[in-house]
Amino acid sequence: MTRIIAIAMQKGGVGKTTTTINLAAALAEQGQRVLAVDLDPQCNLTQHCGFDPDNISPSIYDALKAEVDGLQSNVAESIYETDEAFHLLPAQPELSLIEVALINTLSRERVLATVLESITPWYDFILIDCNPSLGLLVINALTAATSVLIPIQTEYLAARGAFMILSSIETVRRKKLNPNLKVEGILLTMADTRTILTKDVQEAIRQQYGDGIRIFEPLIKRSVRFGESAAAGLSILAYDSSSQGAEAYRQVAREILKGGKNG
Ligand SMILES: Nc1ncnc2c1ncn2[C@@H]1O[C@H](COP(=O)(O)OP(=O)(O)OP(=O)(O)O)[C@@H](O)[C@H]1O
Ligand SMILES: [Mg+2]
Repeated sequence: MTRIIAIAMQKGGVGKTTTTINLAAALAEQGQRVLAVDLDPQCNLTQHCGFDPDNISPSIYDALKAEVDGLQSNVAESIYETDEAFHLLPAQPELSLIEVALINTLSRERVLATVLESITPWYDFILIDCNPSLGLLVINALTAATSVLIPIQTEYLAARGAFMILSSIETVRRKKLNPNLKVEGILLTMADTRTILTKDVQEAIRQQYGDGIRIFEPLIKRSVRFGESAAAGLSILAYDSSSQGAEAYRQVAREILKGGKNG
């Protein structure tokens, strides 16, 4: 069974894209067949994987556009090999037009799920990098996914933001768009471990959500290596394989492979 994980959080800059590429690399390193999907018109994942979003076509945009227009979509044409052991379904900036086009589309929440259907059996994991909103593209990701991974920036009051994405997940379940959608877990990102605050935030999140939701054991610490690897168009595993950041994402991948508390 393919696991389709949406990396989603409506707040911007919390580490969704960084988590998508590095988790893709870590799962691939552990022998999994992985596809990373850029579902954000900002195209950061596409760029982070070393591609130029202004010069990449076909992309996820073409596949979704065909589906919206009632045409046969051939999403396989939009899959690219990266320099690493996972595949990429990239985005181009025109993807922003899809969000508008979806509004008047029949079964508008299910367009991505339909597009991914034919290629799903090729992979063990499909990771979807979402844009920072709770708009229709994100709802499409939540409808297509088997689970959601929620990155939260390790800072004061950060836990509040989790409430909104969790309630969108609940809506998607309740409206029967995806009744079995699970929460893969909460990942604390950009932690500054020199401060006591980090421990407080970690504790607050465990208290608030830890009963029903897995809080991943490793914290992703703040490191300049992440920005450097993005600029180099590589995952941190490829850029600096023995770094703390690479090791942390390997650990998250192992926890995901083990399964565990998610619901
Ligand atoms: N652990 C980290 N330490 C330091 N910098 C990080 C870390 N994780 C991510 N970054 C950097 O922070 C910025 C935001 O991260 P990222 O793009 O992954 O967030 P995002 O949630 O995808 O943002 P958006 O909501 O805009 O899509 C990037 O420049 C990234 O390189
Ligand atoms: Mg992003």
